[in-house]
Amino acid sequence: MFAKFLSIGAYTPKNVMDNKYFESIVETDDEWIYKRTGIKTRFKADDNQYTSDLGVEAAKVAIQRAGIDKKDIGMIICATISPDYLCMPSTACIISHKLGLKNIPAFDISAACSGFIYALSIAKAYVEAKVAKYVLIIGAEKLSSIVDYTDRSTCVLFGDGAGAAIIGTTTNEKEKIIDINISADGEFQDFLITPGCGSKNPCSQKVLDEHLQFMKMKGNETFKVAVKTLSNDVVELLSRNGISSDKIDHFIPHQANYRIIKAVGDTLNLHEKQIVLTVEKYGNTSSASIPMAINDIYESKRLKNGDLMLLDAFGGGLTWGSSLVYFAGN
Ligand code: UT7
Repeated sequence: MFAKFLSIGAYTPKNVMDNKYFESIVETDDEWIYKRTGIKTRFKADDNQYTSDLGVEAAKVAIQRAGIDKKDIGMIICATISPDYLCMPSTACIISHKLGLKNIPAFDISAACSGFIYALSIAKAYVEAKVAKYVLIIGAEKLSSIVDYTDRSTCVLFGDGAGAAIIGTTTNEKEKIIDINISADGEFQDFLITPGCGSKNPCSQKVLDEHLQFMKMKGNETFKVAVKTLSNDVVELLSRNGISSDKIDHFIPHQANYRIIKAVGDTLNLHEKQIVLTVEKYGNTSSASIPMAINDIYESKRLKNGDLMLLDAFGGGLTWGSSLVYFAGN
């Protein structure tokens, strides 16, 4: 019995923020943003639309495409760094209720941009242990709620969105999730951080005045570790499984920066056609970026059943992860 990646779904909010918009709120310009990041647009949820709402919309699509009865879902995992509520209830519990599901485990995980791959690894373990028939995994972010729109070094980078997948079982080797790496190193915990409103710096007027409730990033330092870690991680995963990079149909990396993706692609000797790029359109949507990218190639009919995907993510923590997965849609 193996775990399989049965379906994908995603949701993009309707409000577009283009680079010109940022020229009107901070000292930046379209040329800088596009040249340094590859981003042209990103999306923003409505004020009354929360992370759980984005996750529910993505989940509905994934459930429908899996062709399963939602009552057979045995677990819901939501990866997010922008939950509806800071501590509780979890966004996964709210999603569960909005989907009309009861009496199944539902929980959030905090692994920043690597969250979807962390969720995938938990889902794989649970279905292979026959604890759940299907697991719904979601990467959902309303990052606009934790972005400081006065900080040009971060605000131009991030967008809102959600992606979801159904993980099921198979006995067919050619349908399985082949392997997953997840890892972390807390030494670099301050590279990407929201310093305020946790137990260390509880919410106070001072915290709010200093904008500590928002994301901070040491961009350049993060960039260098990201390129090295993402490359090493996938090289190790491919060699452990005896798979060469030319066998990969779709390399789907976390969409933080075009230059990072290009550098990793070059290290792996990947052809342009193998690399999935959505950073231009969505910006960095953290845990949602990989499932949104998978959904893009699914909807544009580039992703076919039996295709081999290589997922690769890196984010706050620092955390990282990669996975070799056959797409096993109905
Ligand atoms: O998703 C989790 C993982 N995240 C990542 O992997 C992100 C990794 N980092 C990056 O993608 C890049 O480091 C950034 C896109 C964030 C920044 O690009 P960079 O080439 O590393 O720029 P930098 O931070 O070294 O800044 C270069 C200059 C600075 O000016 P000075 O000091 O050289 O005068 C910045 O102040 O660019 C300036 N700058 C900007 N200029 C115009 C920073 N942000 C902006 C901006 N517009 N929005």
